[in-house]
Amino acid sequence: MTNVSKKRVFSGVQPTANLHLGNYLGAIRRFVELQNEPATECIYCVVDLHAITVPQDPEKLRAQTREVAAAYLAAGVDPVRSVIFVQSNVSAHAELAWILNCVARMGWLERMTQFKDKAGKNAERSSVGLFDYPVLMAADILTYKATHVPVGDDQKQHLELSRDIAARFNTDFKVDGFFPLPEPIIGGPAARVMNLQDGTKKMSKSDPADNSRINLTDSVDVMVKKIKKAKTDTLPMPAHVDELKSRPEVDNLVSIYAALSGQTKEQVVAEFVGAGFGVFKPRLADLAVEALGPTMTSMATYLADPAQIDAILRAGADRANAIAQPILKDTKAAVGFWS
Ligand code: TRP
Repeated sequence: MTNVSKKRVFSGVQPTANLHLGNYLGAIRRFVELQNEPATECIYCVVDLHAITVPQDPEKLRAQTREVAAAYLAAGVDPVRSVIFVQSNVSAHAELAWILNCVARMGWLERMTQFKDKAGKNAERSSVGLFDYPVLMAADILTYKATHVPVGDDQKQHLELSRDIAARFNTDFKVDGFFPLPEPIIGGPAARVMNLQDGTKKMSKSDPADNSRINLTDSVDVMVKKIKKAKTDTLPMPAHVDELKSRPEVDNLVSIYAALSGQTKEQVVAEFVGAGFGVFKPRLADLAVEALGPTMTSMATYLADPAQIDAILRAGADRANAIAQPILKDTKAAVGFWS
């Protein structure tokens, strides 16, 4: 058994399309912070099994898998201290997902709001995998007996389900405490980064307007242009954060500034009170260049050397397997599988 006093962090990002500022601030940057905490072991996955719950182009999937890995590395995830790997390289995820499918209840999954949002009116035509997505996510986490899971707030419900599944497994198979109940790590000043052209929508990789988001593969110049073109209004910066509620685009830029500078939104508003966006936007652009420029440059360097990324992912899969296999073996024994 591994050292239980240790915190074990697991998280994943889907290799579905352009990674953007929202993925960086909401997930990847926090992966690095957690890695740097004492007594914390971090396992970061590129979740390609999740990606195929909706149709994917095989060549693009492969390229985007490397892109997510490059983003982890460029942001500062250290492949020696942390484990970085691709989900489909560790078969324990799929095996455990099957077992957990037989633990989770239909009614629990039917309550998942993300499935309803993603499937829309076409639920009958969506893949069974899309419905089952949260069970696979539980398997990801429990395959490593992870104790802490950094996620965006849209994943809160899925994490609750993971806890329910873990608890139900422990009760059904009379193995009290076998799976720890994973704790979400949610929050931070910009857990939710919004669309630069419409502050009521999340920044999204699928929005047709490229200037609605900052891609991690953008050049620094393009990023600066997008910040300067971001939608705002003609009012000056207010004195209080409360006054941003009716100004979602401004609120979003303030959140981004806060996240990049390590300040609270209150501090940012206080610093710029009364200023117009002719003042605020260039300052935000400078800050973004300083905070993100090195990651963007490093990402381009990694992407120019896919063989290096592949070697890191292969070594990561070996390490992930070494952790997962004994846990899977114990799980199968608890279920009563012959071996
Ligand atoms: N569903 C997560 C998302 O879209 C990605 C994910 C898959 C994940 N498996 C996970 C996150 C396990 C945390 C832990 O953001």
